[in-house]
Amino acid sequence: MDLGLNDKVAVITGAANGIGAATAARLAAEGASVVIADIDESGAHAQATALTASGLRAAGLRVDVTDEASVAAMVERTRQTFGGVHILVNNAGFTRDMRIAKMGLDAWDSVVDVILKGAFLCTRAVLPGMTEQGWGRIINVSSRAHLGNPGQANYSAAKAGLIGFTRALSLENARFGITVNAVAPGIIDTETVRRLFHYEKIRDAAAKNTPVPRIGHPDDVADAIAFLASERASYISGDLLHISGGRY
Ligand SMILES: NC(=O)c1ccc[n+]([C@@H]2O[C@H](COP(=O)([O-])OP(=O)(O)OC[C@H]3O[C@@H](n4cnc5c(N)ncnc54)[C@H](O)[C@@H]3O)[C@@H](O)[C@H]2O)c1
Repeated sequence: MDLGLNDKVAVITGAANGIGAATAARLAAEGASVVIADIDESGAHAQATALTASGLRAAGLRVDVTDEASVAAMVERTRQTFGGVHILVNNAGFTRDMRIAKMGLDAWDSVVDVILKGAFLCTRAVLPGMTEQGWGRIINVSSRAHLGNPGQANYSAAKAGLIGFTRALSLENARFGITVNAVAPGIIDTETVRRLFHYEKIRDAAAKNTPVPRIGHPDDVADAIAFLASERASYISGDLLHISGGRY
């Protein structure tokens, strides 16, 4: 299936690592020019260099998605380098897990800010260009945690909020050729997950409790995002796709 991504430019936030890096690699392999945007500047450059070394079109840059000026600079740099933005993947995010009684304001604000404020700022910055060109794809990386996980009230709230954000945006923008969808991964085997002290337990539990009996791979998510970003998904908007091996 030709995804029709050859002449498209994609910005993927949080793409120095994990799901974002796999998504950037997949979109680039499909012919898109990709901007690997991350607060981890050296990681972003390393990922971009690896792709360009394989003959693909990629650029790495530093962005803090919670900072309006930094986001504006990211979009401007993308325009200068590749001419515009067709696809935005709001992927940057992290967890600060603890029970609500122990949760300080910083643990709440940092998680909600990177996930929700970050998606808001990046989306608002690319929408005028997408509207003008009459074509756009926005994919928000939510999580199966939107259902509510103990110890993750901040993260669950933010990831559920991202789904409401997706639906509102879809209603506002579909008429301009811009579709907006979200994906909700289950447990995905990224370096960040591997660093958790109970990683082996998580991986084995995923194999036991998931209908597709294994932990997810970043490519599982990247493939779904590439489809939603493609020409082939032009009649899908405001939707949420779980990538959780049937666990949802
Ligand atoms: N791994 C999983 O099991 C899983 C499951 C469901 C959802 N998700 C979501 O998928 C996304 C990627 O997860 P991952 O496991 O690949 O994580 P990851 O830690 O590998 O990658 C996240 C990236 O976001 C970047 N980042 C953090 N703060 C930023 C900021 N302010 N501005 C720009 N970049 C910033 C980090 O530097 C990092 O490179 C996250 O939104 C996460 O919540 C992950």
